[in-house]
Amino acid sequence: FSCGIVIVAAGRGERAGSLRDGPKQYRPIGGRPVITHTLDVFATWPEEKTIVVVIHPDDEALFAQARSRVSGDTSVITVVHGGPTRQLSVLAGLKALENFGITHVMIHDAVRPFIDHTLLDRCVLALTQGSDAVLPAIAVADTLKRGSPDGTVVETVPRAGLFGAQTPQCFRFAPILDAHTNAAASGRSDFTDDASIAEWAGLPVTLIEGLVDNVKLTIKRDIAMADEKLNRHAL
Ligand code: C5P
Repeated sequence: FSCGIVIVAAGRGERAGSLRDGPKQYRPIGGRPVITHTLDVFATWPEEKTIVVVIHPDDEALFAQARSRVSGDTSVITVVHGGPTRQLSVLAGLKALENFGITHVMIHDAVRPFIDHTLLDRCVLALTQGSDAVLPAIAVADTLKRGSPDGTVVETVPRAGLFGAQTPQCFRFAPILDAHTNAAASGRSDFTDDASIAEWAGLPVTLIEGLVDNVKLTIKRDIAMADEKLNRHAL
C-alpha cells in the first residue's frame, strides 16, 4: 500500500468574492493561509506519502509563501498547474502521480482545512479492507426542499439515505486514473467530485463517516467563521 495525495487548489473561488481579495485557498485563517492548514495535516501524517498540489499558474508566488509556512515535511510536495474545472485540475494531479508507483490516491479540496489524521486513517483502513473507492460523507440533517425559480416550494425531498459528500475521496489509483481519463476523453469536464466519476465508470463507492467540521470554505462568511474558530482555539 502506498498512497499519493492530490490537493486541488487551482480554483478562482468566485463565490467567495475572490476578485478583490485573492483566491479563498490563500486567505488567512488563524494567521496563516487556508491551504497551509490543509497541507499541515497531510505533511504531519505519519503515513508514507507523495503530495501533488494543483495550483493556478497565476498563484505561484502565493503558493510559495503558503508552502513556506507549513509545519512538517514539505519535501514530499510536487506542484503542477490545474485546468478550467475542478475535474480537469484533478486529472492534472493524477497524471503527475503516474510515475510514482503508488497503489492508491486521496483527492482533497485545499479549501477543507479541518480534516484530521483520524479521518485519513479511517480512509486508509477502508482502502486496505478492499474498497476501490471511499467517500467520507455526513447524513443530511436538514429537511430538504426543492424550490422553483420563483422562490416557492415545489416539494419536500425525503432526506432518508441522503448524504453530503466530503473529501478526501480515496481510490485505487489505476481505476480512478482510467475513469478520469475516459471522462475527459468523452467530453465531460463538469463532474463536481471524484466519487461521481467513479460512479459514472461503474466503480462501487463505499461510504464512510465524514467529519462534521470538515466543511468546504466556499463563501466569504465561511472564511470569517473559520478564522474566528481558530482564533478562539488559540486563546
Ligand atoms: O469550486 P469548488 O468549491 O468546487 O472547488 C473545490 C476545490 O477545487 C477548491 O480547492 C478549488 O481550488 C479546486 N478547483 C481547482 N480547479 C478548478 C476549480 C476548482 O483546483 N478549475
